[in-house]
Amino acid sequence: MTIDIKNPSFLLDGEEVPFTEGQTVMEAALTAGSYIPHLCFHPELQAHGSCRLCIVESDNRLHASCTLQANSRLKVSSQTQAINKMRKHIVQMLFVEGNHICPSCEFSGNCQLQAMAYELDMEEGHFHFRYPKREQDASHNDIFLDRDRCINCELCVRASRENDAKNVFSLGGRGTETHLCANSASGKLGDTSLDVSDKAANICPVGALLINDQSYVTPKEDRVYYQTSISLRGNRRPKEIE
Ligand code: SF4
Ligand code: FES
Repeated sequence: MTIDIKNPSFLLDGEEVPFTEGQTVMEAALTAGSYIPHLCFHPELQAHGSCRLCIVESDNRLHASCTLQANSRLKVSSQTQAINKMRKHIVQMLFVEGNHICPSCEFSGNCQLQAMAYELDMEEGHFHFRYPKREQDASHNDIFLDRDRCINCELCVRASRENDAKNVFSLGGRGTETHLCANSASGKLGDTSLDVSDKAANICPVGALLINDQSYVTPKEDRVYYQTSISLRGNRRPKEIE
């Protein structure tokens, strides 16, 4: 591989991916139209590196591609059987850690976790289901928080802080008790300044933050991942695609 200083690129699964100074492997790959599976990454927010779905291999080491700086010496593997098996196990763990009942979920077909499970040929939970007891929050006039479906990706946390300049959410607890908190004296969503037009209210990749009265508006055949896989359609909410 020859290095072109003016037009730098790295190899992703044998294909050249151009990048600009400061881009991560994930950013460069998505800009070039190459999909790397991810859940906690959003191009408009600081990378978080927590879900590990975006793992790639380079120099016999695993890296989170959303935090790995691109450079011309990189030879990165993403779509290998071994890496996709690890990704599938991560998705299976996310399913068993929460209460994700897809057939009765109003976000089915728009959900990135569900779409990722299809993408990775997940057919069962593999691990022991925990069925945790989690609190719902219907205190807000326009937005419902269903913690059963929360995957602790912190997209809403970052969107509120970085985009909406509000800091409405945070994560509390530790380990398997980690959960999303509403930052108000009562701990209730209705007592925060969250507005239905905030990015934080519209960024959830699963059905944990739902806008009231919108859940069944879109027929299932028009939902984002009903006909197109997440690798082709990308990680966007319907509202963000329009
Ligand atoms: Fe992520 Fe949604 Fe949970 Fe917020 S509510 S942490 S966006 S899954
Ligand atoms: Fe990179 Fe979640 S997308 S760790």
